[in-house]
Amino acid sequence: MHGTGDEAAEEFRELLRGLRVHDAGELPAFDPEQAPDEPLSLFRRWLREAAEAGVPGPHTMMLATADADGRPSVRTVMLHDVDARGWHFGTHRTSRKGRELAARPYAALGFHWTAVGRQVRIGGRVTAADPEESTADLRGRSPAALTAALAGGGRQSEVLGSYEELERAFEAARERVEREPDATAPSWTLYVLAADEVEFYQEEEHRRHVRLRYRRAGEGEDGGWRRELLWP
Ligand SMILES: Cc1cc2nc3c(=O)[nH]c(=O)nc-3n(C[C@H](O)[C@H](O)[C@H](O)COP(=O)(O)O)c2cc1C
Repeated sequence: MHGTGDEAAEEFRELLRGLRVHDAGELPAFDPEQAPDEPLSLFRRWLREAAEAGVPGPHTMMLATADADGRPSVRTVMLHDVDARGWHFGTHRTSRKGRELAARPYAALGFHWTAVGRQVRIGGRVTAADPEESTADLRGRSPAALTAALAGGGRQSEVLGSYEELERAFEAARERVEREPDATAPSWTLYVLAADEVEFYQEEEHRRHVRLRYRRAGEGEDGGWRRELLWP
């Protein structure tokens, strides 16, 4: 049984103190001297290695945005692609994060891959892709993803009256996807975060962790990258 009051609080603290981030297994070595000149290829390699190490959902990431007053908010989204333009993700333009991005087009992404003791964080400006590219992104995903996008009908982050309402919306969306597999969800938008900063963090057995930060050296995508080590 779980206690109440102070006892419960102490039990909870004990639980936290007893938890481990990962088994004391061997972590991969990371030599920043050998790191490439740009962060993209290193990010792809680390994501592949996380997948190979069995990290569940290595392509899920935390996305932080801020509202017009600068108040931050964070949630999990899926990474859809990474290319020279940046890190791609999809969501509803009308959602809380969509509205925040419209007010302040800057965001941060965070990955934590426990089994390999690695963290990557990325910051930069976010641009919404045009409707054609956004639709192509949604089409490239599963029928279940399309159903969910249609069921929401642009209401993501709004208050839901009841679960019956949600059930009905899903049922209608499922039927529509069967009839019309090419249906589009107008609020679904592909966003691309063009990084101006990417930091790679490798945990090390004796907590002498390695942090390597890439920062844009100049203006625009052709500006090149500056690499620097950071105190852990
Ligand atoms: C593993 C996981 C993956 C998710 N992927 C997405 C996603 O790709 N796009 C999305 O809009 N929401 C995704 N969500 C839901 C979001 O975390 C969030 O609840 C939703 O987008 C509403 O966020 P907002 O109110 O801050 O706009 C995901 C949630 C989890 C747990």
